[in-house]
Amino acid sequence: MLTALGSHPWAYPMLEVVHLFGIALLLGNLVLLELRVFGLGPTLPVDALARLSQTLAGLGFVLAAVSGLTMFGTMPGELLANRVFTAKMALILLAGCNAGLFHARDSLRKLDATARGLMVVSTVIWLLVLTCGRWIGYT
Ligand code: HEM
Repeated sequence: MLTALGSHPWAYPMLEVVHLFGIALLLGNLVLLELRVFGLGPTLPVDALARLSQTLAGLGFVLAAVSGLTMFGTMPGELLANRVFTAKMALILLAGCNAGLFHARDSLRKLDATARGLMVVSTVIWLLVLTCGRWIGYT
């Protein structure tokens, strides 16, 4: 059934729209919080901004993951044999570990150099995920 979805005239493109919306929410909110932590918008309270941006980033990830897994279901064999797809999944796992470390050490309360470093690493990883995602279409 999911393989038929892959050739549907509008269902697959709509899944890509949902995927891109999820990515925009995820990256947009993470970058917003990162800029605040790096000193932009000093009047914005970090706690309140972090709650909002992390909730929206989490929602974005759920949208990207659900649409991504559905798209994966339309061509699992092809994607599992694709090294760029494997790299993308490994990078998502790495981003999860980085986020786990960020929260485990209570980085949002400390807001120290390590917290800032982990945020930069997070953005770089998500940009690499984005690059792999787009690249899959050309492999
Ligand atoms: C569990 C999570 C995810 C899965 C299973 C997944 C899977 C997929 C699949 C199967 C495609 C279609 C490939 C194609 O048709 O060429 C795709 C496209 C894409 N993915 Fe993901 N993805 C996930 C999360 C993400 C995240 C978090 C990002 C970015 C931060 C991302 C970025 C992209 C991009 C940029 C595209 C290309 C969209 C387009 O060209 O229209 N993906 N993804």
